[in-house]
Amino acid sequence: MPLPICYLNGTYLPLTEARVSPLDRAFLFGDAVYEVLPLYASRPFRLREHIERLNRSLAGIRMPAPLSHTDWAELCRELITRNSAGDGYLYLQVTRGAEFGRNHAWPEGLKPTLFAYISALDPVPPSFLEQGVAAVTAADTRWARRDIKSTALLANILLKKLAVDGGAFETIMLEQGELTEGSSTTVHVIKDGVIYTPPNGHHILPGTTRDVVGELAARLKLRSESRRITESELRAADEIWLAFATRGVLPVTKLDDTAVGSGKPGPLFKLVSAAFAEYTRELAGTPAL
Ligand SMILES: Cc1ncc(COP(=O)(O)O)c(C=O)c1O
Repeated sequence: MPLPICYLNGTYLPLTEARVSPLDRAFLFGDAVYEVLPLYASRPFRLREHIERLNRSLAGIRMPAPLSHTDWAELCRELITRNSAGDGYLYLQVTRGAEFGRNHAWPEGLKPTLFAYISALDPVPPSFLEQGVAAVTAADTRWARRDIKSTALLANILLKKLAVDGGAFETIMLEQGELTEGSSTTVHVIKDGVIYTPPNGHHILPGTTRDVVGELAARLKLRSESRRITESELRAADEIWLAFATRGVLPVTKLDDTAVGSGKPGPLFKLVSAAFAEYTRELAGTPAL
């Protein structure tokens, strides 16, 4: 895939030419936050919600918002215009900037590094929707502020690799006998016709896609509830779904080598997945912000 035109610190340039300092604190400390938002037919999906979460992440690491909503929207529009986007995703990253000294306690007044690019995304493989995906479980080994979407993702990537090494798609994490989330997904558990997902807080990332699932459930007159979910409830689920920006909603049909429910994507998944696709089509051509 040819590399796209990206945005770096006010300039649009080929990604192959983009350079940042090795003294950037993102490189040295993972001192940075980011967002990933989907593009459906070149339209950013839930742009406002992603910018708002980015601003919450920035506040969480004591950085001011470097751009206004309108400026972020303009940046996204420009990247979309300069690349043939179609369906894909947009990546935005803000780092605390570069300094010589490797100070754990950063000096004030650093110039943040702003980086963004667009990537095309292949459609979801039909087998994911028709047969579902496998997941494994593992202890949640992350830090205590998982609501901050930080690029310091070492625990997440190790956990994801665990899944892939075991032939699975995702690792679903447990902490003190309760479900937290997937390594890069929000987990929904469906039991007796009700859609459950753990409440937002410091212990999980408040997913943007989970909110869409909640809204679609309301449209479909399905019951949904945000509450703590025990490991036994997870294992006894009729259906399990993963929700995340780049793929929408996917059904988990195998958990740790045991079939979830019937072992096939369930009836509620089919309803919500169809409603999701319909919703993205409805939005086509409407303003992103
Ligand atoms: C840890 C984690 N949880 C949940 C999500 C889902 O969030 P969203 O729906 O906004 O993509 C992500 C997305 O990357 C994630 O990394």
